[in-house]
Amino acid sequence: MSKPFLKWAGGKYKLVSFIENNFPKTAKRKRLIEPFCGSAALSLSLEFDEYLLNDINSDLINLYQVLQKEKQGFIDYTKQFFTVENNTEQAFLSLRDLFNQSANIEERSALFIYLNRHSFNGLCRYNSKGKFNVPFGRYKSPYFPEIELQEFVKKSDRIKLSCADFHVVFNQAQAEDIIYCDPPYVPLSETASFTAYSQNGFNLQEQKDLANYSEITAKKSEIVLISNHDTQFTRNIYANAKLAFVEVQRNIAAKSESRKKIGELLAIYE
Ligand SMILES: C[S@@+](CC[C@H](N)C(=O)[O-])C[C@H]1O[C@@H](n2cnc3c(N)ncnc32)[C@H](O)[C@@H]1O
Repeated sequence: MSKPFLKWAGGKYKLVSFIENNFPKTAKRKRLIEPFCGSAALSLSLEFDEYLLNDINSDLINLYQVLQKEKQGFIDYTKQFFTVENNTEQAFLSLRDLFNQSANIEERSALFIYLNRHSFNGLCRYNSKGKFNVPFGRYKSPYFPEIELQEFVKKSDRIKLSCADFHVVFNQAQAEDIIYCDPPYVPLSETASFTAYSQNGFNLQEQKDLANYSEITAKKSEIVLISNHDTQFTRNIYANAKLAFVEVQRNIAAKSESRKKIGELLAIYE
């Protein structure tokens, strides 16, 4: 099972088997669509004839496009940023500035991988002006995910990419597609609001819209599945779906004492 080459908040690598177990046993695995692909943990782990990966984060999709086109050449170029000298706060801040100023897609994409491995908790967050603003992560020796990048390249001829709001890819659904949706989580409580994705948060109305789109789209595709926190709100909006439950160990804060088991659900529209 190939691991994603990016660290991603809410990444589903550990839940791949749980999600896959809820696919119809007879499905032909022609195409997997991920409207909220992030690090694409599911697509990189499972075998399908084709994949459609979409995300609203343009830095992410540009990076996938560059890697798809330039393959090992881009991997070698990116590797040059992973040096001992570049693992200091000063070097990090100047490379972060370079990323924020750069209009060169190759340079920005390579620096996006550098930032992903050198930023605090591997977070991806932008300020109101669209500038990446996560502080230095202080990792002893940041890992360069060469093997994982090569695994992406091996699959890349079968991957179609799109950078749009989720509903745009829903409109492309066909009869045999399996659609796996992993939107930003709804907050666990009224006060918590973790919306560190792209420049836009994802509000509760959008969560409801996604549930409605999924119910409609399931009728013209194989199946639509949605991951989310298990809360009263999600149980309400997914009332017309079949639900499956799982508990995951999460690092809520940096301290290990605050590791907690969190309930997640999978809403299944057949
Ligand atoms: C929980 S993450 C997905 C994680 C992914 N399943 C993985 O394993 O890495 C949610 C993703 O939704 C994206 N996103 C947020 N709002 C969106 C929207 N309106 N349309 C499409 N993608 C969106 C974010 O950029 C983020 O990458």
